[in-house]
Amino acid sequence: MVNQQAATESAIVSAQSPRPGRYAHSFPGAQYLLPADEEERSRLALQHELFKRVMGGRIILPSMSFDPDAEILDSGTGSAIWLIDCRSQLPASCQFYGIDIESKLYPDIPTDASNLHLSVASITALPRSWTAKFALVNQRLLMAGLTVPDWKVALEEIHRVLKPGGFIQLMESDSDSIQSGPETAAAAELLRRLMVASGLNHECSKNIEGMLMSAGFVDVYSEDVVVKVGKWAGRDGVDAREDFGSAFRGLKGAVLKAGGMGYADTPEEFDQKVDRQIEEWDRTEGSCTKLKAFYARKP
Ligand SMILES: C[S@@+](CC[C@H](N)C(=O)[O-])C[C@H]1O[C@@H](n2cnc3c(N)ncnc32)[C@H](O)[C@@H]1O
Repeated sequence: MVNQQAATESAIVSAQSPRPGRYAHSFPGAQYLLPADEEERSRLALQHELFKRVMGGRIILPSMSFDPDAEILDSGTGSAIWLIDCRSQLPASCQFYGIDIESKLYPDIPTDASNLHLSVASITALPRSWTAKFALVNQRLLMAGLTVPDWKVALEEIHRVLKPGGFIQLMESDSDSIQSGPETAAAAELLRRLMVASGLNHECSKNIEGMLMSAGFVDVYSEDVVVKVGKWAGRDGVDAREDFGSAFRGLKGAVLKAGGMGYADTPEEFDQKVDRQIEEWDRTEGSCTKLKAFYARKP
C-alpha cells in the first residue's frame, strides 16, 4: 500500500513542470523542485549571508592556498552569490566558473569582470575539456535537484574536473534534523514524501561521506552546524525563518500539482499551513535545524 502510494505520487510529481505562479527551469531531465524568480534570488541572498554568519564568516572551508591562475567552479550556482563572494576574496588573476541548469538568476556580469564565467549545464555532464581544471569545486544545497543516481554521477564529474590535490566542498541541510512542533513535523514529512516521489536523495547529507569516498576522494571532513529558527533566536533566527519559510512556499506548486499529498488541497490551505509553521518557530524556543558541511581532496 505504501509502495503504491509512492508510485502514484511519483507519477504525478514527474509530470509537474511548469508550476503555476512561479518561474521554473525547463532543463531536460532535471528534477529540481524550487522556482527561479526574484523571490528566490532574494531568498538565496539572505541565505548566503546567514550561512556565512553561522559558519563564522568562512565561505572556503578547506585550509588551502591558491595559485595565481587557480580556477574555481561553483556547481548549481543559482544567483552566483557564493561565487561572487569567493571572487572578492581571491586574487583577480584567478578564474571563477559557475554552472546551473537555469540561467534566470544569473546576475549581469560587469564588463570588467572578465574572470567570471557563467554557463548553463548540469553537474552530471560537465564539458570534457574541463578535466583536471579546477583547484576547488563548491556545491551548496543541490538536495532538491539531484536524484540518487545523479549524486553518484555528479561526484564523479567533480572528481574528474578537479586537478590532483584539488578540493571539493559541499553543504547540505540535514533533512531529518528540524525540531520544533507538530506543524513543522507535518511539513518535514511532506518534504520527505515529495522528495522521495521525485526520486531525489532526501538522505543525501547522511550518505555524502560514503559517496565521496566511493568517487575516489580522500581526507573526507564533515562538520555539523546548528541553525536556530524563529524570532526567539535574534537576527539569525529571523533570517532562518524567512529563508526556510520562503523555500517551503516555493514547493507549493509541486505539492498542489501532486494533488496536495495529504497536506493541503488548495493554495490558500497551503499558505495557511506554512504561516502556522512559521508561527510555531517563533513561539517554540529551541526550534532548530542542522546543516552539514563537507570537504575532501582528490589525491
Ligand atoms: C537551492 S539553489 C542553491 C544555489 C546556490 N548553490 C546557493 O547556495 O546560493 C540550488 C540550485 O541548483 C540548481 N540545480 C538543480 N539541479 C542542478 C543540476 N543537475 N546541475 C546544476 N545545477 C542544478 C538549481 O537550478 C538552483 O539554482
